[in-house]
Order: sequence, then structure tokens, then C-alpha cells
Amino acid sequence: MYDIHCHICFGADDGAENLETAVEMVALAAEHGTAGIAATPHCNVPGVYRNTWSPKLHNRIRTLRAALQEKGIGVTIYTGQEIFCTDDTTALLASGALITLNRSRYPLVEFHFYESADSVYRKLQTLTAEGYTPVVAHPERYAFLSEDPDAAMRIRRLGCLMQINKSSLYGRFGTAAYHASHRLLAHRLADVVASDAHSPYVRTPNLRNAHELVCEEYSYDYADLLFEENPRRILDNEDIFSD
Ligand SMILES: [Fe+2]
Repeated sequence: MYDIHCHICFGADDGAENLETAVEMVALAAEHGTAGIAATPHCNVPGVYRNTWSPKLHNRIRTLRAALQEKGIGVTIYTGQEIFCTDDTTALLASGALITLNRSRYPLVEFHFYESADSVYRKLQTLTAEGYTPVVAHPERYAFLSEDPDAAMRIRRLGCLMQINKSSLYGRFGTAAYHASHRLLAHRLADVVASDAHSPYVRTPNLRNAHELVCEEYSYDYADLLFEENPRRILDNEDIFSD
């Protein structure tokens, strides 16, 4: 499996605090069948996390890779960011202040949980107009989408992808996100399931249980697409097959 949303760039946000915790998280993911993880620290969040892409962040990824190699943990770590979408996101990507998932055409983007649908659509269109294919992080957690079943179709029609959080499938983020996540799966509108892991204990990077849930409640083929095929294709900058 491949995890395109994980807070293992230690010391950068509210995810792994230090190298040891990040290694523990990756070891747990490896134990449960994850082969590759994109380190996606929060960034461009006004007044909270700036985290523009820098040698400092890149060095943390290199340090993590070296520690994993030393311990014989065979998980590939990719670069990335969880980009809080603002009006200047496209310009920041162009300048190199923000980066996509493994330098692909796919930026992982998030929004304010109560942002209006129109604002989200407008920002996504700005990105697609520049040739990016945004991957919307945890769409099921946004009020506009959980309240309006047509919103997901609109995002799809804009040419964007949707990444569900594994914990939403169990109700970890409330009933609205739970129902929205299952509605997305039932209508085959989700493209990826990722961990959005912040710790080795709560909100972990273990994807195995969520993979089994999708196999049992939906289908093995859909689980394979969500946890393996699509995230790998995103990281390799290949086209995504959507229904
Ligand atoms: Fe996240």
C-alpha cells in the first residue's frame, strides 16, 4: 500500500514530534503492509504553520530516510506537503515555496472545515487552470461537502481527486464525516484512502484495518485502487483511472 497523507516530517507540525516518533510511525506502517509514504507536513496555514518548502524540511526527510535504512525498515519516503489552499497557492507552487506530492502534477490540498463551496471550487479551478490535478484531502470532513451530496460530483467534474481519511470510515471524525466518507465510497467517488496519521498511538499510519473494511463492505478491487494503485500512480505522476 501507499500512503499519500502522513505527518512524519518530524518537528514541523502537530504530527511526529521527533525522529524517534517518526521512525516508530513508519515501522508500524511497514508492519501492516505499507510500502511507501509521502511526508506531508501542514503548510501555508495562515497564522499557524508556514512551513514553506526549504532545505530544513528536506533535510528532515533525508534524516528520516537514513534512520529507516539503518534500522532496515523498507519503506520509501516521498516528499510532499498538505497545502492549506489560499488565493496565492498557485503562485507559491510556481515559485517553489510549496511542493506537490513527490514533485508530480498532484498537490495535496486542504481547506478550512467551514469554507464555502464556492470558495473551494474557485481555488481548485485556479489550480487546474495551471495544469495541476489537486488531491482534496479528507473531503468528507468539510461541512459544505457533508451537507450536499452533489458537491463531490462538482469536485470530480472540476477534474480533481478526493482522498478519504481512513479514520473517517470508523466515525473518528464524527457522524457527518462518517456518512460522507461512506457515501463517497458507495458512489465510487473516492480516489484514495490515506492515513493522515499524526502519531504511532492515535491517528496512526496503520492502513491494514481500513483496507480490510473496504474489501468487506465494498470490494477487493476498489480497495486495491484506493490503497495501492491510485496512490502509487499519483506518486509516479501517472494518470488516475476513475469510474
Ligand atoms: Fe493532514
